[in-house]
Amino acid sequence: MRGILLAGGTGSRLGRLTRITNKHLLPVYNRSMIEWSVEAMVAAGIDELLIVTGGERVGDFLRMLGDGSSLGLENLSYAVQERPGGIAEALGLGERFAKGGPIVVMLADNIFEHSFKPTIDGFRQRPVGCRLILSKMDDPTHLSHLGVPEMDEEGRIVRIIEKPVQPPSHYAVTGVYCYEPSVFDVIKTLEPSGRGELEITDVNNHFIAGGIVAYDVQQGFWGDAGESIEAYQAVGEFVARNGANKA
Ligand code: DAU
Repeated sequence: MRGILLAGGTGSRLGRLTRITNKHLLPVYNRSMIEWSVEAMVAAGIDELLIVTGGERVGDFLRMLGDGSSLGLENLSYAVQERPGGIAEALGLGERFAKGGPIVVMLADNIFEHSFKPTIDGFRQRPVGCRLILSKMDDPTHLSHLGVPEMDEEGRIVRIIEKPVQPPSHYAVTGVYCYEPSVFDVIKTLEPSGRGELEITDVNNHFIAGGIVAYDVQQGFWGDAGESIEAYQAVGEFVARNGANKA
């Protein structure tokens, strides 16, 4: 299965830490953030990977990861996003890499305690629409910085609200998404949001409206290390104590 790891953007929420480098090159405990996310994709069964990042730091990624063979990849490619036009725009750069097949996408600032391989295996068996991973958040203050699903009484996702003032559930939509090949056509129909970006939540809401969405609830810790300085620190401390990407 092919995977796309998104590592562009500005990282502005990490303030001075990202003044001279890309967020995903910062350490999380004893490795860089990008290494944890590459390891997560490999553990989930991804053997061919595309990393999308901004042009200024692409050489640093290459020096850090090389051809990916030492991390267990068959093939590692790179693509450059000229400006941070949004997660969905960055994903759109992967169309040729996907070669018309289904694709697994991960935001490179996400850290999982346990591997999300079961979700990828589930999607492999039924590669239609999109398949998402939710995480139940004990601390609901995180939710207003994330995408949050609204669910009906049967537990079906009705829609996702991005950065809700009043979160409609206790679940966060994590940054791992499985898509059928039509995702690249969906991206071409998107309009920029209020913050001038092509939003991944609009892509997911397209599949939800079409009734072709599945989801799993991830067990164990999940964190978005780019959410804030506090979240970055909390994720690092969790990984130091407990590790990540465990079976
Ligand atoms: O982490 C999960 C959350 O990620 C979801 O709950 C939200 O629904 C989703 O929109 C996203 O929210 P964030 O505010 O955390 O997205 P952020 O702008 O931090 O971008 C996440 C990653 O995507 C980041 O690690 C780099 C990549 N990215 C982002 C942008 C804006 C790109 O590669 N290019 C971009 O232009």
